[in-house]
Amino acid sequence: MERTYLMIKPDGVQRNLIGEVVSRFEKKGFTLVGAKLMTVTKDLAETHYAEHKERPFFGELVDFITSGPVFAMVWEGENVISTARTMMGATNPAEAAPGTIRGDYGVQVAMNVIHGSDSPESAKREIGIFFEDAELNNYEKVVNKWV
Ligand code: TYD
Ligand code: MG
Repeated sequence: MERTYLMIKPDGVQRNLIGEVVSRFEKKGFTLVGAKLMTVTKDLAETHYAEHKERPFFGELVDFITSGPVFAMVWEGENVISTARTMMGATNPAEAAPGTIRGDYGVQVAMNVIHGSDSPESAKREIGIFFEDAELNNYEKVVNKWV
């Protein structure tokens, strides 16, 4: 069963979108296996976004993600990595389709409400840097047979 790392960014937390975003993944049929409200340190932000180190927006991205609490989550389910990306919408909310999280709630690319792992390798890496094994709950929902 696949797992992904999803994170409601400081703009989503400030705008009271935690419940809305969590609700979408719950209703879709995915299983929440770990979650916490946390403030990201500069070190953690730089590690998480290491692939963008050389990009012109890297400094602002790190400043933004460390500017206030984020809601860090691990979700489980069939194809959850790519399906979550589809549900999030395009990186730039201006190009994200209506009905997606970024399409419905975002305006600017820098403040696009949510992060989601983009591959199985990223998911494993990101879950590992944000969560201890003991914070992840291994359980099976009886209703999962029905979705
Ligand atoms: P990226 O990994 O390309 O997007 P995604 O979050 O969809 O995987 O970029 C990481 C974040 O960097 C993105 O969510 C918002 C920010 N960003 C900018 O601020 N400006 C930009 O031009 C891009 C491409 C990203
Ligand atoms: Mg990315």
